[in-house]
Amino acid sequence: MFVVIEGIEGSGKSTLHKGLVERFGVEGRDVVVTREPGGTATGDAIRSIFLDRTLTIEPLTEAFLVSAARVQHVAEVIRPALAQDRLVLCDRFTDSTLAYQGYGGGLELASLQRLCDESTGGIQPDLVLLIDLPIEVARARLQERYVLDRVESQDAAFHERVRQGYLELAKSARHRVLDGTLPRDRLLEDAWNSISTS
Ligand code: TMP
Repeated sequence: MFVVIEGIEGSGKSTLHKGLVERFGVEGRDVVVTREPGGTATGDAIRSIFLDRTLTIEPLTEAFLVSAARVQHVAEVIRPALAQDRLVLCDRFTDSTLAYQGYGGGLELASLQRLCDESTGGIQPDLVLLIDLPIEVARARLQERYVLDRVESQDAAFHERVRQGYLELAKSARHRVLDGTLPRDRLLEDAWNSISTS
């Protein structure tokens, strides 16, 4: 089974990811934990370019960078794990490209979808958990924590387009929308129930 967690920065994605991994551990379930961009040595190298605050990167370049990282990720991690019937829990996948480079960056969705299909070889998540919350709440959480990276530093209008894009994508049957304003334990419970009933 292939499960993806998506959401804007500051949505609590990483905390949920960690909580789910712990819960799978308690249940003795074998789970492959990974993320995008990244998940492989090549992908992590691309990730550091992608998030570098000192660089200016066009949305189309971004789309190629994340897609290049994804080709490696699918080949080295996701496809082999799914072939062994293992559960893959991935922090971000193709919805991030459609939401950030498409809805956020203004690239045409149909072209991006083709690029996503090409880079995944047609592999799709069985379940996407979208953590949704108002961008003001998410940004307040981030600013408390650290210096923002290149994407986090984009303006509020960009992040609002990304949020609305995610909600549009989440109209498909494979998505569940989770309330990111819930306390951490409630969010984990909702995510766990969504995975258990899928
Ligand atoms: P994060 O996973 O630590 O939140 O950071 C990854 C950043 O990369 C985040 O700002 C979203 C961005 N991103 C894209 O813009 N497009 C993509 O396809 C992916 C996977 C991530």
